[in-house]
Amino acid sequence: MVRETRLSTKDLISPIFVDENISRPREIRSMPGVYNLPLDMVTKEANEAAGLGVPAVLMFGIPKRKDEEGSEAWSAAGVVQRAIRELKKDSPVAVIADLCLCEYTSHGHCGAVKDGTVNNDETIELYGRTAVAQARAGADMVAPSGMMDGQVAAIRRALDEAGFEDVPIMSYSAKYASAFYGPFRDAAQSTPQFGDRRTHQMDPGNAREALREMEEDLMEGADIIMVKPALAYLDIIKEARVRFEAPIAAYNVSGEYSMIKAAAANGWIDHDRAMMESLTSIKRAGADMIITYFAKEAAKLIKGGF
Ligand code: PBG
Repeated sequence: MVRETRLSTKDLISPIFVDENISRPREIRSMPGVYNLPLDMVTKEANEAAGLGVPAVLMFGIPKRKDEEGSEAWSAAGVVQRAIRELKKDSPVAVIADLCLCEYTSHGHCGAVKDGTVNNDETIELYGRTAVAQARAGADMVAPSGMMDGQVAAIRRALDEAGFEDVPIMSYSAKYASAFYGPFRDAAQSTPQFGDRRTHQMDPGNAREALREMEEDLMEGADIIMVKPALAYLDIIKEARVRFEAPIAAYNVSGEYSMIKAAAANGWIDHDRAMMESLTSIKRAGADMIITYFAKEAAKLIKGGF
């Protein structure tokens, strides 16, 4: 009765990786229990999450063809657009489309590369195009994760001009240059071929900068702000909760998932308790919603009265 923080299945968002190159599910080596899925299995996966009370999925795509620009990201026939169109035919689940180019570019960077670095202003124009393609396919929300300056404003403008005033933006506002994304880059095949992302992702030592990033995103029209990763940045979530009225999402990232899986597989930690404790602490810090690879497993436990 006196517990202050209760986790609900409604707090959770389940990521989905749809891969155009496979015809059967392929388990991600560094993320036991998480799969790259072929197009025709996406609806089943999303409905399974929905059946457990999870209201939304976050969609990532791995295209057949990568190029210098990442053009499959905004092609009407691109893998995510196809998956969303299919899914929206037959599912109650809300679809959030991750919006970035790193899965689509041959060099693995999050945008257009010029003279060896990512060009911010060219990139946000491409993000606008991608958002419109995703909305056209039926995405309920778009989630730009590239950390370019001005990306929210550019996407908002592009969506509005195309008649998608009602499609909200969940912005990866405070996204740190983190070692905890390692396993994800396996899954999404999005490791940069040269350089790194430290020109646009944040320094782990900075907290005030995160607040400024969130404030800028809100001014540009973000509807939901995100902190990522979650566990090493609970102080940032808390600060944001105190400072802003907007809904806050936290991304419990791949490395945070894999560490618990690996320790549990060795018998070094109690899997279910560690999972629920992590998720509860993220909510306690102030997150309204949690993107997590544990979504389905946690939902099962919550339903069972954990
Ligand atoms: C990039 C993106 C990343 C994640 C989500 N979107 C990784 C990166 O910046 O390299 C990481 C998610 C995770 O680790 O679970 N578009």
